[in-house]
Amino acid sequence: MSLPFNVAAHLDTRLRAAADRLGLAGRGFDPEVRVADPAHGDFQANGALAFAKREKQNPRAVAQQIVDQAAELSADFDLTLAGPGFINFRLKPASLLAWIGAHDSEEHLRTGASAAHANQTWVVDYSSPNTAKQMHVGHLRSAVIGEAICRLLAFTGAKVIRDNHLGDWGTQFGKLIYAYKRWVDDEALMTDPIEELERLYKLGHAATPEGSPELEEAKRELVKLQTGDPQNVALWKKFSDVSLAAFQQIYDRLGIVFDHNLGESFYNDKVERVYRELTETKLAEDSAGALVVFHDEHPRFSRNAERPNPFMVRKADGASGYASTDLATALYRTEHFKADGIVVVTDFRQGDHFEQLFLTVKKWFAAKSYRLPELHHVTFGAVTGEDGKALKTRDGGVIKLKALLDEAEDRAFALVSAKNPDLPEEERREIARAVGIGSVQYADLSQNRSSNYVFSWDKMLALDGNTAPYLLYAVARVRSIFRKAELDPAQPPVAGATAPETAQELALARKLVQFADAIQLATAQLRPHFLCLYLFELAGAYSAFYAADKVIVDDPAVRARRLLLCHRTLITLQTGLHLLGLRTLERM
Ligand code: ARG
Repeated sequence: MSLPFNVAAHLDTRLRAAADRLGLAGRGFDPEVRVADPAHGDFQANGALAFAKREKQNPRAVAQQIVDQAAELSADFDLTLAGPGFINFRLKPASLLAWIGAHDSEEHLRTGASAAHANQTWVVDYSSPNTAKQMHVGHLRSAVIGEAICRLLAFTGAKVIRDNHLGDWGTQFGKLIYAYKRWVDDEALMTDPIEELERLYKLGHAATPEGSPELEEAKRELVKLQTGDPQNVALWKKFSDVSLAAFQQIYDRLGIVFDHNLGESFYNDKVERVYRELTETKLAEDSAGALVVFHDEHPRFSRNAERPNPFMVRKADGASGYASTDLATALYRTEHFKADGIVVVTDFRQGDHFEQLFLTVKKWFAAKSYRLPELHHVTFGAVTGEDGKALKTRDGGVIKLKALLDEAEDRAFALVSAKNPDLPEEERREIARAVGIGSVQYADLSQNRSSNYVFSWDKMLALDGNTAPYLLYAVARVRSIFRKAELDPAQPPVAGATAPETAQELALARKLVQFADAIQLATAQLRPHFLCLYLFELAGAYSAFYAADKVIVDDPAVRARRLLLCHRTLITLQTGLHLLGLRTLERM
C-alpha cells in the first residue's frame, strides 16, 4: 500500500474507519489529525480527548482502542500514545522514501493535490481596478494575493476563472467626457493615456462645481452615455480600452492572465432582474424612494441599528450602484459560470459591503431555490512604510505601481551586478526581473494578508530571511549541485536510492512530505503565507542537510538517496514558488 500525497488526510480516513468499526463514528468522533511538533512525531491525532470528555470515558483508553483497530497503519508509521491520549505518528524511513520516490515532478505533486477541489469551478475576482485611473501601490495586493489564490485553487483541482471586475461605470464618466470634449491632448493620450485621462478628470472635476451649469452639462453627458449616445459610448469604450492596455503591462510583469474583464458596465442590463427578484421575494423594501435590504439579525445592518446602514440595491434617483452590480455579478457567476466558489479579493475596508452582499445573496438564492456557491471575501490590510504610515512618494504623492515595479527591478539589478559582475548584462537583467518582481510579490504574500503590509526594500531584497532572494537562491544552489556534477536535474540518477538515515536526511525528508499540509492549509484558508513559511522552512532543512551531508560521495546508494533529496527539494521549492506567482532561475 502506498501513501497518498496528503498523509494527514490519509490518517484521518483510516482513523475514522477504525472509529467506525468501534462504533464511535456515529457518536461524533473526529480524529483531529494535525502536523505534530517534530519532537513527538510527524502527525498527531488529538480527537480521543474531546470525544472521551464528552462521553465521560478515559481518553487514553479510547486512544488505545483506536490504535489497536488501526493496526494496519503500523506498516508506515511508528505509533505512540502520549500524555492523556494523544496518538503520535512518525513515518518510517522506508515510507518516507516511498512517498518521496512517488512524488517526482511538479506534475505528480499536482496530481496528488488535485483531489481537494476536483470537478469544482471557482471564480476569482481580483485586481479589479477602476478604469481611467492609474494603478497605484494599493492595487498591488489584490493582484498578487489574487493570483496566488488562483494558482493554489487550480493546483488543488479547481477549474479557475480569473475575472477582472473593472470599475468602469459610474458618475465620474460624465465629468471625464465633459473634459475630454474640451481639453484632450491627443499626443499625451497616445504616449501616456492614463496620465492624460487622470489630468482630464481632474480638470473636469474642477470645472463642474456643485450647482454650476457646467455640472448640469456633465450630467447630461452621463445621461447620454447611459442612454446609448454613440459618440459618448465610443469615448467611454476608448477610456476602457486604453486603461486595460495600460493595466495589461502591469499584469504581464506579474504573470497574470485574466480570462474575463467583466467590469461593472457588463451588469448594466442585468440589474433589472435583481430589482425584480429582491422585490418579489420581499427581501428589499422601499426607503424614501430607494430600494434597500436590511438584515435585522445583524447588529449593524438591522433597521433598528443606531445608524441604519441598509444595503442600497437601487438608489433613490433610480440609478444602480456598487451593491446592484455586485448582486447581479453574484447571480451571473452562479448561473453562467456555474461557480462552486466565488472569491473576491479587496482591501479590508470593503468588509461591510461584502458582508451585506453575501447575506443578501444567501437569502435571495434560498428564496428562489438557486444553488448557492461558497462565497469568500478575501481581505487584506493597507500597504505602509516602515514608519507604519501609508506608503507615499517622497513628495507625498501616491506611488504608481509601474514606478514601484521599475524600482524593484533596478534595485535587484544593482544587487545581482554586485554579486555576479562577470555575468553578461542581458543575463543580469533577466535575473533582476525575476528577483525584483518576485521580491515584491513574495514580501506581500509572506505576511498574513490580514495584517498591514509593511513595505521595506531592504527586507524584501535581503538574501537571508523569509524572502524571495533567499528562496530563489536556494533553488539556484540545488541546481548548481547537478550542474557541477554534470547531471541533468530533469533526469536525476536516483535509482537504488536507500531510505534516509542521517538526522538531516530524515528531517529534510519529513519536511518534503509536509508540502501537502502547507498546500492544504494555504488553500483552505486562502492564505498564501502558510505556503511561504513552509518553503522557508524547507530551504532551512535543506541548508542543514547540505552542511552536514556531502552529496557527491562514492557509495552509489548514499549518493543516489542524497541526490533524490536534492531533486525533490528542487521540485518542491519550484512548485511552491510558481504557485506564488514567482519565476524561478537556473542561476543567480
Ligand atoms: N473596483 C473596486 C475597487 O477598486 C474593486 C472591485 C472588487 N470586486 C467587486 N466585485 N466588487 O475598489
